[in-house]
Amino acid sequence: MKQINLAIVGATGMVGRTFLKILEERNLPIKNLYLFASSRSAGNTITFKDHEYTVEELTETSFDRGIDIALFSAGGSTSKKFAPIAASKGCVVVDNSSAWRMVEDIPLVVPEVNPEDIFRHNGIIANPNCSTIQAMVVLKPLHDLFKIKRVVYSTYQAVSGAGVAGWRDLEEGMKAHVNNEEFVPEKFQHPIAFNCLPHIDVFMDNGYTKEEMKMVHETRKILHETDLPITATCVRVPVFNGHSEAINLEFEKPFDLKELKEALINAPGVVVEDEVGKAIYPLVETASGRDETFVGRIRRDESVKNGVNLWVVADNIRKGAATNTIQIAEKLIEEMK
Ligand code: A2P
Repeated sequence: MKQINLAIVGATGMVGRTFLKILEERNLPIKNLYLFASSRSAGNTITFKDHEYTVEELTETSFDRGIDIALFSAGGSTSKKFAPIAASKGCVVVDNSSAWRMVEDIPLVVPEVNPEDIFRHNGIIANPNCSTIQAMVVLKPLHDLFKIKRVVYSTYQAVSGAGVAGWRDLEEGMKAHVNNEEFVPEKFQHPIAFNCLPHIDVFMDNGYTKEEMKMVHETRKILHETDLPITATCVRVPVFNGHSEAINLEFEKPFDLKELKEALINAPGVVVEDEVGKAIYPLVETASGRDETFVGRIRRDESVKNGVNLWVVADNIRKGAATNTIQIAEKLIEEMK
C-alpha cells in the first residue's frame, strides 16, 4: 500500500484528536503527518506514535508540499475557504463540516452504504452529519429489502458533538448546579446540565433546526432517494458522548420481523443488541469508544401497515465523525498507486 502524506486540519479539536487516535489504532500508511489548527494553537506539540509533532497555523500555503489527503474538522468557514485551496494543490480533502455536504457534485459518503460515490470526487469528499451517519448504516439494508416509504427521526444528542465548549458547558454546569453556584453557558443558549434542549444548530424559516434539516437532506442524498418523506426532531441531552436515536420507519413492502432483524445482524458496521427480557438494548455507555452502530428495541409499529421502531446508538465522535472520515481515507488509499 502507498505511504501517504496526510494532514489534519483542526488537529487540536475534539474530532481532530480522535482522528489521531484512530489513525494510530488502524495503522494507516502515513509517510509524513502535518497538523494544522488556528494561530491560537500554533507551536503546541502533539504526540503521535511516539513522535512529537508541532501544530502549525493553517494558511493559504499550508498545502504547498505534496499532501495526498487532508482530514478537515475545523468548522464550516475554515472548510469553505481552505478545502478548495487544498484541492487545487492536488490534495483530496475529506471534510467533516457541513460546508460541502449538499453541493451537488460533491460526494457525501458512509462507506458501508455508498462507497461507490467516493470516486466521483473532484478533490473534496464530504463526511455526513454525525446523527445521519449512524442512521444510514441501519436504514440501508432495510431500504434494500423493504423499500422505505417514510422516516421519522427523534434524536438524543451528546454534548461532544458541540466540541470542546459543549463538553465544558455540561461539565462545569453540572458542578455549578450541585454546588448551587451560578453558571453562564458558553456554547448553548440554556444550561445543558439536567436539561434537554430541542435546539441543535440554528433555526430555519420553516421552524426546523438546521440539524434536523441536515438529517432530512443528507439521508436523501446518501440513499439516492431525492423525494423520500423524512421528518426529524433533534434534541441535545446531558450526555457527554454518544448519540441515541429513536427511528420510526414505514416500508412499501410487508416484512417479517425475524428477517428484518437478520438483515441488521448481517449489516456491515451494525451490532444488534436486542434482548429486552435481560434489559439488553443499546446504551451510550457501552457504544462510546466503539466504531460500530448499535441497534435494539426492534419492534413493529402497530399503528401503521408496514412500520418498525428502532433504537440506534453510536459514538458520535468516532463513527459519527472521525472513524467515518478515516474509513473514506482508507478507501482512497487503497486506490492510490
Ligand atoms: P484551535 O484549537 O487552534 O482553536 P472543536 O470543534 O472541538 O472546538 O475544534 C475545532 C478545531 O478547529 C480546533 O482544532 C481549532 O483550532 C480548529 N480551528 C478553528 N478555527 C480555525 C481556523 N480559522 N483555522 C484553522 N483551524 C481552526
